[in-house]
This record gives sequence, C-alpha cells and structure tokens, in this order.
Amino acid sequence: MDGFPHQIYNDGACGNINELTLWLAGQLPYIEAELRTHGAVLFRDFPVKSALDFDAFSATFGYEDFTYDESFSNAVRINLTPRVFTANEAPPDREIFLHHELAQTPFYPSKIFFCCLSAPESGGETPLCRSDLLFAEFKRQYPDWTDLLAELGLRYTIQMPENDNLESGQGRSWRNTLSVNSEAQAEDKLARLGYEWRWRKDQTLSATTPVMPAIRALSDGSASFFNQVIAVSRGWQRGTGTPTPLTFGDGTKIDDSILEALIAVSHTFSTALQWQAGDVALVDNFRVMHGRYPYAGKSPRQIIVNLAR
Ligand SMILES: [Fe+2]
Repeated sequence: MDGFPHQIYNDGACGNINELTLWLAGQLPYIEAELRTHGAVLFRDFPVKSALDFDAFSATFGYEDFTYDESFSNAVRINLTPRVFTANEAPPDREIFLHHELAQTPFYPSKIFFCCLSAPESGGETPLCRSDLLFAEFKRQYPDWTDLLAELGLRYTIQMPENDNLESGQGRSWRNTLSVNSEAQAEDKLARLGYEWRWRKDQTLSATTPVMPAIRALSDGSASFFNQVIAVSRGWQRGTGTPTPLTFGDGTKIDDSILEALIAVSHTFSTALQWQAGDVALVDNFRVMHGRYPYAGKSPRQIIVNLAR
C-alpha cells in the first residue's frame, strides 16, 4: 500500500538523542495528524541506538504508559526500562499472525511504539494491516457475516501454563499474566472480570473471556475490526483436549472458510515493514494490525516496544 506506513526521514538535522527529542516535541501535531490519516508512522535514520534512547523518544509524546505488568499479555517479554520491553520472545521460526495488541483482553493499548535495535539477516519483517479499510471492504463483500460478528462479539479461551514457557508465543504463566500468587487469587481476579475458567491436570489454567466486542468505532466516525480472529485461526495453540480458542459470543463456531476469506482480503491492505537498525514505528492499535514474520541468520532481531494507554 502506498504511503503506509507514512515515513519521516532524518535530513541530518538530528545528530543525537537530545536534538532528536527537541525536534520531535515541535513536530507532534504534524506527526499525530499523519498517524490519524495513515494509521502508522515510520521514523528512519534517526539516532536511536539503545533502549534508553527509545525510552526518551517515546516519552516525548507524553502518552500515559500501558505497562507489561498490568497487561494480560500472554507472551513472555523482558523489561529493559520501566517503560520499554522486548517484543514477543517467541522462537525465530514462528510466525506471529496479524492481530490488534491485546484485543482478546479487557485491557489494551491505544498505540504501540516499535523500535529496531538490530535487524535480522533475513525475514523478521513486521506486517502491518489497515484494519479499518479491511473492515470496510469485508463488510461490502460479506455484510451478513460482519453484521453477525458485530451483534454476537467473540469469546476467547486462553491456556496459561503454571510456569513461563519461552518456547511458546503465548507462554506466559497464569501467575505472571494475572499478577497473582495463588489459584484462589487467580480465580478471584477472573471472576471479577467476568471470565469463566477451569484448571487442567497439569495446572494449566484454561480461561474463557466474557463476550468481547469484535468491531470498534473510531474517533473519525469510521469503524475497524478490533479482535484476534486472524491470529487465533492461524496461530494459537490448540493441543489435545483443549477447547476451541475462539467462538462467537454465543458459543457457536466460526466457519473456517470465512476466516480464510478474511485473511485473503487482508493482504490487499497490508505491507511488510522491513526493519533497519534505528527505525521507530508508531502504530495506532485501533486502526492497524501487526504481526511478525519468521527470521533467520546470525545477527539477532532486537525489536523493543513501548505501549501507550
Ligand atoms: Fe503484538
């Protein structure tokens, strides 16, 4: 897609992080206007070389932080500063499919800053998809299904192991996900949030969300998908004996063929962001989905993130 993400290049005026944050502070109205228009903005060739630089860069925007600790993220991540943490630590050969960050939980960020400290030799792009444009087109092609989705919403069933599992893209333990120390505390928290749950034999917690909206009204009067249907249908572990991870809000099954059609149409509104060291991308989580392609090679892929409420 042309102009997506919108790109802003350093013309050489910003030689260090102090010059950069001063310059950024003066550009915020322009940057936020571009973000509203395009859904994502890429900053390239700026002097962002460390987690601390990225912390300063993202802090310039003045957004309220959305912390990893308080989120129900089911990915294992590592904090580098109080505001900055690693992107999903899933193994390099795993693809992470298109999703809106944490749309399957009651708490989600409105914006995501990504920063590339080191780009992999091959692969590892971040696919970005304009979910509002995808919604409009899919509604045109499948009006009955999108109306049904809007009416019924979705319920997600998430498996949380007893201990963190770094081999999985969703390996965060229930103790860490829910910030609790005991099974009783976990149950209390889930009950307050309207979840249903059961304990499996290996102390994995199988938790089912209350009905979650699948479509979101945006501030400009348009609407966007805001859900995890693509990521769940393609990527979420099922395993033997585990329940279907995604149903409509009334518990009925979602037809695989419609999800295949949705994935096919999503390509029209997607682009693959090929990272260079020092890149920062600001993504509107309500308008744009993201993912991660698999990668390989000796140089590590270091993508770090800051989330805004
Ligand atoms: Fe994500």
